[in-house]
Amino acid sequence: MTALARHLLPDSARVVGGRLEIGGCDLLELAEVHGTPVFVYDEQQLRERCRETVAAFGDGATYGSKAFLCRAMARLVVEEGMRIDVATGGELHVALAADVPGERIVLHGNNKSEAELGMALAAGIGRIVIDSDEEIGRIERLVEDEGFDVPRVLLRVTPGVEAHTHEYVMTGQEDTKFGFSLESGAAAAAVKRVQASRSMDLVGLHAHIGSNIFLLSGYEKAVDRLAPLVNELDLPELCLGGGLGVAYVDGEETPSITEWAGLLKRCCAEAGIRSSLVVEPGRAIVAAAAVTLYRVGTIKELPGIRTYVAVDGGMSDNPRPVLYGSGYETFLPRATDAERPLVATVVGKHCESGDVLVRDARLPADLEVGDVLATPVTGAYGHSMASNYNKVPRPPVVFVSGGEYRVVVRREVLDDLLWLDLD
Ligand code: LLP
Repeated sequence: MTALARHLLPDSARVVGGRLEIGGCDLLELAEVHGTPVFVYDEQQLRERCRETVAAFGDGATYGSKAFLCRAMARLVVEEGMRIDVATGGELHVALAADVPGERIVLHGNNKSEAELGMALAAGIGRIVIDSDEEIGRIERLVEDEGFDVPRVLLRVTPGVEAHTHEYVMTGQEDTKFGFSLESGAAAAAVKRVQASRSMDLVGLHAHIGSNIFLLSGYEKAVDRLAPLVNELDLPELCLGGGLGVAYVDGEETPSITEWAGLLKRCCAEAGIRSSLVVEPGRAIVAAAAVTLYRVGTIKELPGIRTYVAVDGGMSDNPRPVLYGSGYETFLPRATDAERPLVATVVGKHCESGDVLVRDARLPADLEVGDVLATPVTGAYGHSMASNYNKVPRPPVVFVSGGEYRVVVRREVLDDLLWLDLD
């Protein structure tokens, strides 16, 4: 029956006559002006989270851009003093197109091609996080044969820790495609090889144990496991990746970025680690800053079974429920604080039954076709994992702040769907 928990809404959320405003902009008006679906981000909240991260970690604060990236976001992050982690040549291209200085960018990836590495070296990349033996060879060839400057690198280490999260986004356990195993000695061997090379400068170790982590004990274990090697090498940096979880539904609670920082620093101090701490949060910066607005197109009541509420987006703008069984809340911005006695399944418009956005969504009883329906906490891994499945154009991204909005990514139009067809 309960109304939506307000803490799941962006910081600037205000309810005026029942209607929800974010960044001083009325959501129903935004839906009219920009159409639906649309991602609406509270720009001040994005900036605040960046500032909180910089206050907590100083120059080691790096944004994991896979969570949400476009030029405006890349600029915002750098303006607020963070570095950017990119995991592919595509993410690197967007960061560079936003005029992010190469030196503020960190390149990740478990299978970086020579072309991607060459692009990064040409841009004067700040750090490369080495993930495989092949990559060491590729960097050596590029530096020796093509005369690039010697890059600063970190080595990605698998600490052998199972983070408390969905299996698909755990990355610190032994059975993983990422990094070099500490346990097997692969990490120590790779360190030797990199330190012996004249083509790269090893400045630190890196470990990322997973994503959407609520219980921080995984980080404690990772630091304990890493400490002997970190202390033996005494390198300037230690990166503990990203992964801090966020609350998506009522009843969930997560530590803040500041609390996370406190724990990581304490663990490192207790383990006698002197390296400066680097982190790469993505979700914790962007997830809670956005809501997605949809319009309800059909309501099908199947007596004794369930009610299906279909909206004009779906798995193409938010594949997380299908991929990870992730839960979301739902509400109507026209009646933000209304009780939600109706239990319905909110589905998209794609041609499969798996296209579910919210399985047992709670909604006001007077829900109607034509209503704008919103899902909060959609700022991370929604737009960035969006697709054109069923040739559905991807939604725009609108930043709101101080009563003004700006479209930072436009809606795809039907002709965008033909852009790549040559015949
Ligand atoms: N650093 C590295 C090396 C990563 O692989 C990731 C995320 C991050 C940082 C940022 O992690 P975050 O703070 O956002 O948890 N698509 C999934 C999440 C995949 C995470 C991939 N790596 C989801 O929607 O839950």
